Amino acid sequence: MLFAPMVGLTHSALRALVADLGGCGLFFSEMLSAKRLPSENRNISPMLCTTEVEKPLIYQLYISSVDHVRPAVKKIESFDGQGVDINLGCPAPNLRREGAGAALAKDTDRVKEIVKAARAATELPLSAKIRLGQEGKPEKLLSFCKMLEGEGIDYLSIHARYDGEKFCRKPRWKLLEPVCSQLTIPVFANGGVFTVNDAKKCIDESGAAGIMLGRGAVERPWLFNEIARKLYKIDIPQCKVDSGEIFLNFISRVEKTFAKEKQLGRVKQFGHYIVKSSPFGHHLASKVQRSNNIEEAVKHAEDFYKMRSSANELD
Ligand SMILES: Cc1cc2nc3c(=O)[nH]c(=O)nc-3n(C[C@H](O)[C@H](O)[C@H](O)COP(=O)(O)O)c2cc1C
Repeated sequence: MLFAPMVGLTHSALRALVADLGGCGLFFSEMLSAKRLPSENRNISPMLCTTEVEKPLIYQLYISSVDHVRPAVKKIESFDGQGVDINLGCPAPNLRREGAGAALAKDTDRVKEIVKAARAATELPLSAKIRLGQEGKPEKLLSFCKMLEGEGIDYLSIHARYDGEKFCRKPRWKLLEPVCSQLTIPVFANGGVFTVNDAKKCIDESGAAGIMLGRGAVERPWLFNEIARKLYKIDIPQCKVDSGEIFLNFISRVEKTFAKEKQLGRVKQFGHYIVKSSPFGHHLASKVQRSNNIEEAVKHAEDFYKMRSSANELD
């Protein structure tokens, strides 16, 4: 199972927390600009710090020019990354303006050129993350994926939603089946897996080699552990499921990992998701969002989870 790349979320603090809970087999960085990466300082950049437990770690790049490929890939090699992933699915406006992410995927010739350059630059595993493309064009998706395979991509992750589809839409796992059955490289299904049952349905419908979890694993960081044990029957210890403990654990990791001014934003972003695993969590969410500093956020979290545990005792 793969932990999906997510800006503001899949940084070292959350990856390490998920790694400690067990069950995740592959971690991704947040997407990184191929243009800027070569000049980034690993000791300073909050997106580049990492620890030994978050392995294998794949660095995801968004790329706007073939000229940026080699220097970025060499930088990843220089800090011992275990793989390079090319973002071909993100529709964010800043990427669209640069012609990267989903905008790049629209230009097959440029994608080909970029993948060729990446393949020539490294022997590290090379992967790409895409969406389904446009509605009603399944043959286009298949030929695009075959092109990626032909250019030397080692595995593929597909977010099972069309370009431009909102995350609240139901994922279309069935549409991955022709790709999964006709490619020889592993294809991982992504999108809308929040429970063990979702994971089973996703695998059954798509025929994927495995799954990539995004928001589901942020809301419930123990989801990898649960799916590993219950669906894949992997013999790992069951981790403790306690949202309050996990939230506070996350905050203390953030404090150790990031400079003071970078901490609160990350706590708020994670807070938005983890509260969904507790009844009445939205009350805590709004308090965390209004917090002016980490100490305030911690106090709100402690009070909320203390109240929840007293309520549970009364039930
Ligand atoms: C906050 C956030 C940030 C994301 N950042 C990235 C990113 O950096 N690169 C990427 O390929 N996808 C990114 N995605 C998309 C996720 O990787 C994933 O494809 C999407 O959330 C669907 O999976 P899920 O339903 O399991 O969350 C992001 C999604 C979210 C919610």
